[in-house]
Amino acid sequence: RCTECGLCRTRTQTVFQDGAGASGVLFVGEAPGADEDRTGVPFVGRAGQLLTDIITKGMGLPRADVWIANVLKCRPPDNREPTPAEKATCTPFLDRQIELMAPRVIIPLGRHAAMHVLGIEASMGAMRGQVHERGGRPVVPTFHPAYLLRSPGEKKECWKDIQRAMEVLGLPLPKKPGM
Ligand code: URA
Repeated sequence: RCTECGLCRTRTQTVFQDGAGASGVLFVGEAPGADEDRTGVPFVGRAGQLLTDIITKGMGLPRADVWIANVLKCRPPDNREPTPAEKATCTPFLDRQIELMAPRVIIPLGRHAAMHVLGIEASMGAMRGQVHERGGRPVVPTFHPAYLLRSPGEKKECWKDIQRAMEVLGLPLPKKPGM
């Protein structure tokens, strides 16, 4: 029922989070798209199918065993980028989610998520490829799945990030990985 920013006038519903998080992994995306706005569930469209493949085929986890949330809880019209004001208004919800979930590893998807989770302004290139920390929790930023759909050549770099996160978690690498 949030009406803290103008997105409440164009959204169908808020999209809060998905999954039960038994593995301790939290993925953080940018904002709901059209499919998520319609269903109320994060990452169910085309990018969501790729994220589901990363989780199930890449990490070998059921999707229900991770948490999935977004920087913004409401869809920006025409899938435009979140504004600084929208991020400032909405991210206290994400920060409280992170506090309550107490994830073992956070995987921000794309620049907006990585910048918020790490509390810095930087390019994706500068942030990914390493394990960072937020309040003692490991953070492994990687590319947003929508970007990977446009640039499939980067999937192998994403797979390296996912393996970094799996190493942090002590998860076995699948014998025949593929996302
Ligand atoms: N892209 C995101 O960043 N989040 C979603 O929930 C769906 C697509």
